[in-house]
Amino acid sequence: FAFSEENLAWARKQIAQYPEGRQASAAIAILWRAQEQHDGWISEAAIRTVADMLDMPYIRMLEIATFYTMFQLQPVGRKAHIQVCGTTPCRLRGAEDILAVCKSRIHHEPFHLSKDGDFSWEEVECLGSCVNAPMVLIWKDTYEDLTKENFGKVLDGFASGQPPKPGPQIDRQFSAPVGCLT
Ligand code: FES
Repeated sequence: FAFSEENLAWARKQIAQYPEGRQASAAIAILWRAQEQHDGWISEAAIRTVADMLDMPYIRMLEIATFYTMFQLQPVGRKAHIQVCGTTPCRLRGAEDILAVCKSRIHHEPFHLSKDGDFSWEEVECLGSCVNAPMVLIWKDTYEDLTKENFGKVLDGFASGQPPKPGPQIDRQFSAPVGCLT
């Protein structure tokens, strides 16, 4: 793995922001850039490259890469890697339906590519959008208030290269609970 010239220059700038001996603070940002350059996942070679740049042991960088679910350690779908929240609020609001769509349309097992290589999925813990459960994260965007039907449309959008607008996938109108503004 080697960073492109542009990404290498960017990474050096990140590192220079931190005082001597604190370069490890740039680890997550640079790992993320490596993942973006490498089709959405980071290889062992990429982890080693970032560790060397930051003068950190490989095992420390591997710990970071394996701790956060934002990092993928195996190839992911070309068009979308779906992270389905499976924590209790999303589970109570229909995450099982969303997982069932992933299993039938992508692959019955998580972390496997669809036949055409365009999609993959996994289940993750709470992603902080519980208020609009159930939800998924695709790349950097959340898709919320999902049903089997509107999630199917989200997948169709990614398949056709025209992803839908992120956020709630239903018409959501704010209404304050009675008494809340008094
Ligand atoms: Fe799903 Fe929090 S429980 S986003």
